[in-house]
Formats: sequence, C-alpha cells, structure tokens
Amino acid sequence: MKVLVIGGDGYCGWATALYLSSKGYEVGILDSMVRRHWDMEIQVETLTPIAPIQKRIQRWKDLTGKKIDLYIGDITNYDFLSKTLRQFEPESIVHFGEQRAAPFSMIDREHAVMTQVNNVVGTLNILYAMKEDFPDAHLVKLGTMGEYGTPNIDIEEGYITIEHNGRKDTLPYPKQPGSFYHLSKVHDSHNIHFACKIWGLRATDLNQGVVYGVALTGLLDDEIIKDELLINRLDYDGVFGTALNRFCIQAAIGHPLTVYGSGGQTRAFLDIRDTVRCMELAIANPAEAGKFRV
Ligand SMILES: NC(=O)c1ccc[n+]([C@@H]2O[C@H](COP(=O)([O-])OP(=O)(O)OC[C@H]3O[C@@H](n4cnc5c(N)ncnc54)[C@H](O)[C@@H]3O)[C@@H](O)[C@H]2O)c1
Repeated sequence: MKVLVIGGDGYCGWATALYLSSKGYEVGILDSMVRRHWDMEIQVETLTPIAPIQKRIQRWKDLTGKKIDLYIGDITNYDFLSKTLRQFEPESIVHFGEQRAAPFSMIDREHAVMTQVNNVVGTLNILYAMKEDFPDAHLVKLGTMGEYGTPNIDIEEGYITIEHNGRKDTLPYPKQPGSFYHLSKVHDSHNIHFACKIWGLRATDLNQGVVYGVALTGLLDDEIIKDELLINRLDYDGVFGTALNRFCIQAAIGHPLTVYGSGGQTRAFLDIRDTVRCMELAIANPAEAGKFRV
C-alpha cells in the first residue's frame, strides 16, 4: 500500500515513515522543512542533531534497501500539493504537517495567525485534493487530546450521548482547547468531519496524548537504532520541548524541574512506538467512506 507521510521530516512523521517502510509499505515523505526554520527563528535545536532529510533517506536505503520518495514543499500551496498527490498516488495519507507548539502559537498575533493559517489551510487543501483526485484514499490526521481541554467529566473519544429536555442525541464531544494552536486542531476536526459528510471521504482523527521517546527499540534493527544519520529529534526547549522531555533532561543535569502552575495537572503520555503501531493499525483498517472516525 502507498502511504504519503505529510510532515515526515518531523518527530512523529519520521518515526512513522521508517516504521511503515520497514513493514513493506511504499512510503513517500512530503515536508516543507519549515520546522527547521522555526527552530532557527527562536534559536533552539533538537538535543539529538538531525541530518538533512536527503541524507536520512539515503542512509535508510543503504541500510535496508528500501526507497522513500521525497517531496519538498508546502501543503498550503494547493498546486504543489495536488501535483504531488497525482505523482505519488497515495492510498493513505498520514497528516502530521502542522505547527504543533501551543507556546509558539501564543507568542503574539503573527504566530497565532501563522499557526491557524498553516494548519487550517493545509488540512483544507488536503481535503479538496482528495475530493478532486483521490476520493477513495484514507486520511489519517493527527489531532491531540488538547482539543478536549480538561473537563470535569470523563472524555469520550469523539462523541457523547446527551439527554436534554426529554430528547436524546449522540453529538461531537465538546471541545475546550487552551491555545490558538489547539484551536487550529479543533477547526481541522470540524472541517474533516464536514468533508466526510458532504463528499463521502474516509478519515480517521487520532487525538493522541503527548508523545515521548526517540528510538523505535524492539521495532527496528539495532544497527538502524544506533545510526546517527537516522536519529529522531528530541526537543527540550521551552517552546517545542514537551514537559516530559524537559523533566528528563532537567533531572539528568540536576536542574530543578520547571513545573507549571500548581503541579497538580495529570496528562496521558504515549510511547513513540505505540504512536507508529497505532498509525499502522489505522492505515491497515481504513475508516468507512462518509464516516468521520475519531
Ligand atoms: N509530539 C507530540 O507529542 C504530539 C502529541 C499530540 C499530537 N501531535 C500531533 O502530531 C503532529 C506532528 O507532531 P510532531 O511532534 O511530529 O511535530 P514536528 O514539528 O516535529 O513535525 C511537523 C512537521 O510538519 C512539517 N510542516 C509543518 N507545516 C507544514 C506545511 N504547511 N507543509 C508541509 N510540511 C509542514 C514541519 O516541517 C515538520 O517537519 C502534529 O499535528 C501534532 O499536533 C504531536
């Protein structure tokens, strides 16, 4: 099966591309490299230096004999996106290609607008390109648990049945995001839901928790895990670094943990190896046409 990994130079995307390629999927990576640019803009870098994408892909081929196609460009550019899809002809599209840091989206108006335009327009372009040329392809889109916020009742994935004034319905679970970034994901979810309804597309919205881990130990060969050119990124700065990564680095160097707020928050965390296996499960079992699967 042919799978296009959008955002394949990023953290979750790179791990997913390698895992799917190792499992025999024909993989293409589409990425604008904008994340490397954002790192430079705020003067941060991954603790594990990552090689240029062409070198990463070449090393993968040298070690495994498996080819990964590369398309460098921005999905907010519709012409580029639709040409890429026609060239690669994906059966599944895994979409990780977004600005994903809440603090980055909250820096100022420019960053809030940029985040929402990048994420909402990019996803909308994918939906239109699928409707035009690949109506049977399956979109696996990365959402986040942050779309739901922290309500004082259990979170139901996707839908909740509500009884109100004697009548009952199953409705999308209320969203209470906490940043302009999280709001962009909520807008995406609504757009995908609507596109499935009116155009009969297939889509799965995976709302994952915070992902941790670097190596796919146990899933890929040790030689691959140890290869410096294939290493994944590890963000630990105050903008793109996730709390768990920061706490681990701080503990390792004897720095006091920079706990936010009262320190009472509980969150779900996900091993990167579960992320990639979850992607494969979703791809191997596509959503029904016209159904928005969450
Ligand atoms: N990392 C986590 O803990 C986590 C948790 C929940 C959800 N997610 C979701 O998973 C996705 C990927 O997260 P990540 O941590 O891998 O992020 P990342 O920043 O490491 O990777 C995102 C990639 O997308 C690319 N990209 C961004 N905008 C693009 C555009 N317009 N066109 C083409 N490429 C573009 C970037 O260059 C980058 O390589 C995001 O949508 C994020 O919301 C991540």
